[in-house]
Amino acid sequence: MSELAFKARELDAGDELAGVRARFVLDEAVYLDGNSLGALPAGVPGRVEDVVRRQWGELRIRSWEESGWWTAPERIGDRIAPLVGAAAGQIVVGDSTSVNVFKALVGAVRLARLADGRGDGGGRGDGRGGGGGHGDGGDGGDRGGRDEIVVDATTFPTDGYIAGSAARMTGCTLRPVTPAEIPGALGDRTAAVLLNHVDYRTGRLHDLPGLTAAVHAAGAIAVWDLCHSAGALPVGLDEHGVDLAVGCTYKYLNGGPGSPAYLYVRGELQDRFDSPLPGWNSHADPFGMRPDYTPAAGAPRGRVGTPDILSMLALEAALEVWDGVSIESVRTKSLALTDFFLECVAEYVPAGRVESLTPVPHGERGSQVALRCADAGQVMERLIRQGVVGDFRHPDVLRFGFTPLYVGFADVERAAGVLAGVLRGGGA
Ligand SMILES: Cc1ncc(COP(=O)(O)O)c(C=O)c1O
Repeated sequence: MSELAFKARELDAGDELAGVRARFVLDEAVYLDGNSLGALPAGVPGRVEDVVRRQWGELRIRSWEESGWWTAPERIGDRIAPLVGAAAGQIVVGDSTSVNVFKALVGAVRLARLADGRGDGGGRGDGRGGGGGHGDGGDGGDRGGRDEIVVDATTFPTDGYIAGSAARMTGCTLRPVTPAEIPGALGDRTAAVLLNHVDYRTGRLHDLPGLTAAVHAAGAIAVWDLCHSAGALPVGLDEHGVDLAVGCTYKYLNGGPGSPAYLYVRGELQDRFDSPLPGWNSHADPFGMRPDYTPAAGAPRGRVGTPDILSMLALEAALEVWDGVSIESVRTKSLALTDFFLECVAEYVPAGRVESLTPVPHGERGSQVALRCADAGQVMERLIRQGVVGDFRHPDVLRFGFTPLYVGFADVERAAGVLAGVLRGGGA
């Protein structure tokens, strides 16, 4: 047994989360793609079967009340809340991340203008939302001085596209800026800033407390995309005064393909949050069927239409794997896993064959390792054929996600060994 294989055995023996792996359906493959699609929690199939056969098949429409369908978006939001450092009542689950980015960003511009006393279409600021004066070329007649949206220039594409559209709709200019340069780019024209907590390509962890403070010092609103951090490391939304946040649930939260995303609106902003997608589900009296819109109080204000119950309740069952698991212990193991992978790669892989894009300091690292390699696409195909599943990001990045709930240290050592073999030209 090699020295690193022996070390892996010792690390696995001391791993307090080792037993959590049994809560998932897994096979012999080393699954390092949980940062894209989390593995299936063992309790999900049975729950989905019950939801379909009994709740839908037998109770039918009664399930909106009797099976708790109607309240699921906020109930499941409250289950996610402790994982991202939020008190209850601030997260609503539903829609995709892309749709929630739109709600949050346009809502953020409106909030920033309200805070400046100019408001939306003349500064009503009464929390009723909506109102006249919306249209192409500006969200309201008086844009005040806040006419810029700053977006992470290295962002996942959807955030950039939506920020561009949100800017056009609100009469803002879009400024793509790298996260490191953001503090210097902010000013009294900045309305909202959209940032990623962890970069999807490199795995770099951005300074959420420091950047949020800088955004606030400029009088602007901070919107964070948590897709690559929630469930992998502590986020501290309440502690760091984040205004709005969105995230997906199919990566580190294991909700399943296309599972609904979530929207966080800080409690003290909720009565001023003016969603650009007011639907009947976010109405104060949804069954009143009124022609005029009065937004609900609290987290339900972030809803739009009928919740996607099947995938939402699959997610609820998936979140049970977190019972008794702290996000701090997940972070400790995540860093140990990525450290160990980098150590194994340095030892096994021929020198100069790959270059790590992932920061070495723990304070700057998410839960993935990204290796640049000229023939990354072919290398990943071979890795997958040999039972090591990561993914490839155009044009030259091998991505390996480390999900502490079900990845162990022996998996890590094996993955690095297989990678070294492939890079030496081995394997089909
Ligand atoms: C950082 C980030 N933001 C947004 C999205 C888009 O999510 P969705 O396709 O669920 O809308 C993704 C998807 O992977 C992502 O990684």
